[in-house]
Order: sequence, then C-alpha cells, then structure tokens
Amino acid sequence: MTHDYSDALIVQEVSPRDGLQIEPTWVETTDKIALIDQLSLAGFSRIEAGSFVSPKAIAALRDGEQVFQGIIRHPGIIYVALIPNLKGAQRAIESRADELNLVMSASQTHNLANMRMRCEASLTAFGDVVSFAGDHPVRLNGSIATTFGCPFEGRIDEDRVLQLVDAYQALGIQSVTLADTTGMANPRQVERLVKRVLERVSADHLTLHFHNTRGLGLCNVLAAYEVGARRFDAALGGLGGCPFAPGASGNICTEDLVNLCDEVGIETGIDLPYLLRLSRQLPALLGHELPGQVAKAGRNCDLHPPPGYIATL
Ligand code: COA
Ligand code: ZN
Repeated sequence: MTHDYSDALIVQEVSPRDGLQIEPTWVETTDKIALIDQLSLAGFSRIEAGSFVSPKAIAALRDGEQVFQGIIRHPGIIYVALIPNLKGAQRAIESRADELNLVMSASQTHNLANMRMRCEASLTAFGDVVSFAGDHPVRLNGSIATTFGCPFEGRIDEDRVLQLVDAYQALGIQSVTLADTTGMANPRQVERLVKRVLERVSADHLTLHFHNTRGLGLCNVLAAYEVGARRFDAALGGLGGCPFAPGASGNICTEDLVNLCDEVGIETGIDLPYLLRLSRQLPALLGHELPGQVAKAGRNCDLHPPPGYIATL
C-alpha cells in the first residue's frame, strides 16, 4: 500500500507541558520522565516536554532541568520547551531542548495575566531570545495564545493575529502556532484564518493548538485540515489548560484525535492501542478521571461479546 505523506497529520504531544501545568497535584520528576519516555515510543515526531517559566507562575513544572536531563532522547523526536523570555531560553538551551516555543497572546489582557507584561514587551524579549538562540543549534517556534478568542476580551481581530505572524517572521521565526487557549474557536473561523495564515506560513511550519473547552476541538481540527493545515498539538487523555485563563480546560485529546484520523484514513504514524494503554494509566498518576473518550469507550473495532440471552431467541 502506498501512502501520500503530504496528507499525513503530524501530532505534537503536549501533555508533559500543557497537560501537567494545570494539575493541582505535584507529579514527581521521575514520573514526568517516565511519561515522556513512554510517549517517545508511541510514534510522535515532536513532544513538548516542559516549560522554563517562572517557578512562581507554574510550580508544577519547576523541575524542567531535571526532566530534560532525565529523559531518553530518540533521534527522530524533537523535544520542545515552552519559554516566555530570555531567562527561559537560557535555561532551555542549557537543558538541550531541541526547540524553543516562544509564547505570547494576541490579547493584551491575557498576556498581562499570563506573562505579566504587555504584548510589546513580549516581542522585545523575543528579539533577545532570537539573538541568544542564534549562537546555538536550536529551533524556534512562535505561539500566539488566544488567537481565536480571549476569556477577558472576547473576539480577537484576525488582522491582529496576522500582524503577530508577521512580527514573528520579522524576528526570523518561521514556525508559528495558532493557539485556542480556552476553546473559543469554531470551524468556520478556523477555516478562514488558517487560509489567510497559510498565505504567509507553509503548512509544515504551521501548528494548530486547540482546546476542547466547548466541545469543538476535533471539529476545528478537521476544518483546519481541510484547508491545508497538517500539524496539531494534542494531549494524552485530554489533559491541559492555562492556569491564567479563567475557565480553561483540556487540550484536544491525543488518542481521540488519532482515533478520528484512523477512522477517516488520515495517516499519523501513531500507535493507537499503545496510546490507549498509556492514557489508561493517567487516572492513577493524577488521581482523577480524564476527559478523553476513546480510552473509556475503546476503538470501534474493540468489540464486545454478544449477551448470552440472544442464543435463546
Ligand atoms: N525561569 C525561571 N525564573 C524566571 C524566569 C524563567 N523563565 N523568568 C523570570 N524568572 C524569575 C526572575 O529571575 C525573578 O526571580 P527572583 O524573584 O528570584 O528575582 C522572578 O522570576 C521575577 O522575574 P520577572 O522578570 O519580574 O518576572 P515576572 O514576575 O514579571 O513574570 C514571567 C514574568 C514571564 C517570568 C512569568 O509571568 C511567567 O513565567 N509566565 C509564564 C506563565 C505560563 O507558563 N503560562 C502557561 C503557558 S502559556
Ligand atoms: Zn494550551
């Protein structure tokens, strides 16, 4: 059987970062490392393994150095670190992150709440990050949080998002993520904006980051895919959320996304049965149920024995 790999959908697994940053219970460093090492065997080409932000802002991920030091690196996998500023970049590069994910919000209010600075200050800091990173073999990606809506400001002007894409490119950052921080995107909006961004950024440099806060996560993936987007963030079990965005909840669930792709015939290269086994370990690790649905329901092909009584009918 031949595959047209240009139709393949690339999943970047973000549970170790977006997923764990909002968990109220401390996850031991060894458990984080074990989770990432297990995820490294699932077929992902990219894993966001942690963040290097202020430990006061996100205490749950304060052990970034130890995590990056402890994981087993697989040659085919890019291990990504989220950073907000130069200090984060220095820590991440020191910890041998393969890619820095620079994050700011389209919304001034959310940037102030999350990064404690205005958007302009984030961009200035990113200029310093780019200069510093230039001396090191590290990739850069620029994320735009609240692209599709902000829990404080509501609607975000699409031109504002395009200006930020241009600002990243002017800094020399070619790869961009459009993030729907609190699940406010709808498929029509996604279609429209992704088409416009793809006029500036090639599909292999554009990632969509959806949260399933209002149940539209996978609808938005399909809408973006149909107009040419190929790269998507997702979190095992549907973990995730920004602690500085009221009402935030989980990312789109990786195994639900892979199940969708398997069902409609989109190649991902990810081992779904393996992923389901990993996801089913999460309640024991985190002490609560997770929003992911396929881990509970099973795949369509996981059939049940018929009830005994039908033999008597
Ligand atoms: N890593 C570790 N420590 C950092 C840091 C980083 N990347 N950036 C700043 N700090 C430390 C400073 O050294 C300083 O420490 P001190 O109090 O011991 O001197 C302290 O944090 C305050 O520094 P300052 O630059 O004034 O930061 P701030 O308090 O204005 O916060 C951010 C700004 C960006 C560091 C903080 O808001 C942050 O980390 N936000 C990220 C939130 C996040 O991850 N959200 C979810 C993902 S989108
Ligand atoms: Zn997110």
